[in-house]
Amino acid sequence: MSLFFIRDAADHVGEDVVVKGWCYNLRSSGSICFLQMRDGSGFLQAVVAKTSVDQPSWEAASRLTIESSCIVTGKITKHPRQEGVYELQATNVVLLQLAEEFPLGKKEHGPDFLLDQRHLWLRSPSQWAIQKVRNEIIYATYDWMREHGFTKIDAPILTPSACEGTTELFEMDYFGDRKAYLSQSGQLYLEAAISSFGRCFDFGPVFRAEKSKTRRHLTEFWMMDAEMAFVEHEENLAIQEQLICFIVERVLANEQEALKILERQQEPLKKIKAPFVKMTHAEAVAKLHGMGSDIGDMDDLGADDETLLTQQEDRPIFVEKYPAMVKAFYMKRDPQDPTRALNADLLAPEGYGEIIGGSQREDDREQLLARIREHGLPEKAFRWYIDLRRYGSVPHAGFGYGLERLTTWICGIHHVRETIPFPRLINRLEP
Ligand code: 4AD
Ligand code: MG
Repeated sequence: MSLFFIRDAADHVGEDVVVKGWCYNLRSSGSICFLQMRDGSGFLQAVVAKTSVDQPSWEAASRLTIESSCIVTGKITKHPRQEGVYELQATNVVLLQLAEEFPLGKKEHGPDFLLDQRHLWLRSPSQWAIQKVRNEIIYATYDWMREHGFTKIDAPILTPSACEGTTELFEMDYFGDRKAYLSQSGQLYLEAAISSFGRCFDFGPVFRAEKSKTRRHLTEFWMMDAEMAFVEHEENLAIQEQLICFIVERVLANEQEALKILERQQEPLKKIKAPFVKMTHAEAVAKLHGMGSDIGDMDDLGADDETLLTQQEDRPIFVEKYPAMVKAFYMKRDPQDPTRALNADLLAPEGYGEIIGGSQREDDREQLLARIREHGLPEKAFRWYIDLRRYGSVPHAGFGYGLERLTTWICGIHHVRETIPFPRLINRLEP
């Protein structure tokens, strides 16, 4: 018998297979047991009839508890009534480990309890589905990047300085004689790499010592930064638009089972097509005033503002040209209005808000130096970054998406904490 995974059940109807996995639910009625099995690839009901198995198998099936590990041999059949559903008619059952009483699933649990039990909660079908969607987003991104000529460059995690402002930096002692900081984004290092590779991206964990306790903030999350030489503001947005459309299409094509488990409405995802909505920060503020917001003309958009804006549209929104003072030092200024940056945040629809931050970068050495001074950043730590503007500087731009924010939106769930296997929040470092 060849290797079998539940997700391939449709191709094995009528064949004998071996399913190795866990029993996530079960019921029995006298001489028949129904085992809900999970093998990591999918879910399948095994039917164990007392008359179809030997005595040790029947005993094993009768003893099984929720989350016990087991190996069940049998024949794959089509479910008598449900289209596209398969069953396993068991001929042999081996119990590997009899699970103690499983703490999850008997009743509704609060978020704190579930997060304390994250190592076990990860097995539940909803959490499985979220990770499958996250996984598809990752693979889709790698595929798109490779197809479009991007080289993957890994940026360091231990860094000597800030990328996204000093207030959200995790600081650590580096061998007693100096400080190191956990990376907030690999962007600055990618800017060095584009002069060697043209287009590149990184994908890794980043850290923000954010004191924000919201449904959108983690202190450790995964970011994909992309950086492109000879790409300016408008083209930067077009690239983001293509990538996001591709990712959504791939999830719709390959993760139907996960989306169904999550009861994700698919119509809104099917509407994610270019062109996305585009508005300037000034237009967004005017619109928000019309909706009753008291946002100041030169304020950054808050989470509530983003929610208001994105509830109006069924496509993502680029909000471009923010006041330069509320954004990072490296952004190039808009030549039409130097108080504004050549940047855009991409806001996901249905109230989700920012999933991407991006901009054209300041490529002039003098301007960049002025920005570093204005932001009160240590010039010495940025010497290498300024160097990039001394040796063949070119116009360039890039962006970074937050993997968990993207996953939250595509899954249609409420809180970002469920989208990372082991969330790190201000008040949570365990498990
Ligand atoms: O907007 P941010 O801060 O942009 C950068 O870091 C740029 N250096 C990226 C670049 O241009 N290469 O962060 C990018 C994205 C945000 O749009 C958001 O999706 C996510 O990272 N993000 C967070 N996700 C979860 N928890 C947090 N605390 C996050 N902060 C940012
Ligand atoms: Mg941002």
